[in-house]
Amino acid sequence: MAPTCRIAPSLLSADFARLGEEVRAVVAAGADLVHFDVMDNHYVPNLTIGPLVCEAIRPHSSVPIDVHLMVEPVDRIVPDFAKAGATYISFHPEASRHVDRTIGLIRESGCRPGLVFNPSTPLEWLDWTIDKLDLVLLMSVNPGFGGQAFLPHTLAKLADARRRVDAARERTGREILLEVDGGVKVDNIGAIAKAGADTFVAGSAVFGAKDYRATIAAMRAAVAAA
Ligand code: DX5
Ligand code: ZN
Repeated sequence: MAPTCRIAPSLLSADFARLGEEVRAVVAAGADLVHFDVMDNHYVPNLTIGPLVCEAIRPHSSVPIDVHLMVEPVDRIVPDFAKAGATYISFHPEASRHVDRTIGLIRESGCRPGLVFNPSTPLEWLDWTIDKLDLVLLMSVNPGFGGQAFLPHTLAKLADARRRVDAARERTGREILLEVDGGVKVDNIGAIAKAGADTFVAGSAVFGAKDYRATIAAMRAAVAAA
């Protein structure tokens, strides 16, 4: 059986002056999700886009919108993204005072909750959260910017996360996406898939390419060959 492979192009590297068009182009090119990076110049040292932009691009996307919140506080903004059409909403545990409450809030708002792990954040956060999550996201760069190099220790961490996700699925039958974010390229995505990821955020690798379709196809082929 071919390994699961969901490609989630990150709009962070898209042309912001033509965002609707860019969203339609990556969806037509085979994107499974649209990754939407929200940065607040507080939790991370950069400032990007919010619920208004999510709402504006929603009609341009026939695939789920994967909102990655790099903001603090988290809870205030969750209902706004739910109203704006987010499917997944993930957040960093360090940015929430009450992680279990935030997960519940995302679910109650009608979205699928995800927890995000920075490069040095331990996976032990999953011990008491995984049965409430639909997505586990491992950062393979420090959050805040596109175009950074993949941190190799993420591969061992992914293998650990894979074991935890599989054990949870066996226990509950629920599907949980295992996503990786940062520095994913055609030439390393095979190794990342082999380590256990099934969902791949790619910003500069997709939007920096001339041909989005060929790049996404090359990524899928590399995962299938892994
Ligand atoms: C970084 C963001 C990523 C970023 C990835 O904080 O969360 O989603 O866009 O960009 P690339 O694929 O260029 O590393
Ligand atoms: Zn992201």
